[in-house]
Amino acid sequence: MPKKSDDPFAHVREATLKHRARHGCGAWPYDNGPLLATVAAAAGARRILELGCALGYTSLSLASGAPKARVDTVERDPEHVRLARENIAAEGFDKCITVHEGDFAKVLPTLDPGYDVAFFDGHSPVPALHKTLHKLLKTGGMLVTANLNHGGTADDVHAALFDGKSWQSALIGEDGETAISVKL
Ligand SMILES: C[S@@+](CC[C@H](N)C(=O)[O-])C[C@H]1O[C@@H](n2cnc3c(N)ncnc32)[C@H](O)[C@@H]1O
Repeated sequence: MPKKSDDPFAHVREATLKHRARHGCGAWPYDNGPLLATVAAAAGARRILELGCALGYTSLSLASGAPKARVDTVERDPEHVRLARENIAAEGFDKCITVHEGDFAKVLPTLDPGYDVAFFDGHSPVPALHKTLHKLLKTGGMLVTANLNHGGTADDVHAALFDGKSWQSALIGEDGETAISVKL
């Protein structure tokens, strides 16, 4: 996990942890925003898609790595949407990050394909959503998948990411929680 001083949005992450304790929700912030910023920068991303915005910590991280990018982030909890929009505006990123309110399954069909980077952080990954993410990414586009260690459908997604046909993938860290994949 990065040190606070390494992470320009550590205060948003801290606010998300405090919110979760009060709200009793599933807003577990991702543990490495600077990694996402670096992926977005390496891809020279112009379009970024995130599933699972919570309070905006990772949307901000992704946007900060690719200053020319537009970020679409999806969140179904209205309180999270409200707080994310507040946090994003407070950081001055409201012109480049759009928070789409609704379920992934409802919002994804409304988005145009051609994303350079996608980040899945919406609780347990499920194969149907990953198939849609594959369609929405450009060939050579990068996908970061969190929560791969949840078991159940996450194991099926893990197998698909390592099938050697649709994706080139690597696990990051020792717990198998996150994969970085490139669309083949
Ligand atoms: C682990 S949190 C995201 C954390 C965020 N990326 C961060 O690092 O701060 C997962 C979020 O996904 C949202 N979510 C889960 N399933 C969803 C679905 N099917 N459609 C839309 N949002 C969903 C939850 O409401 C929650 O806010």
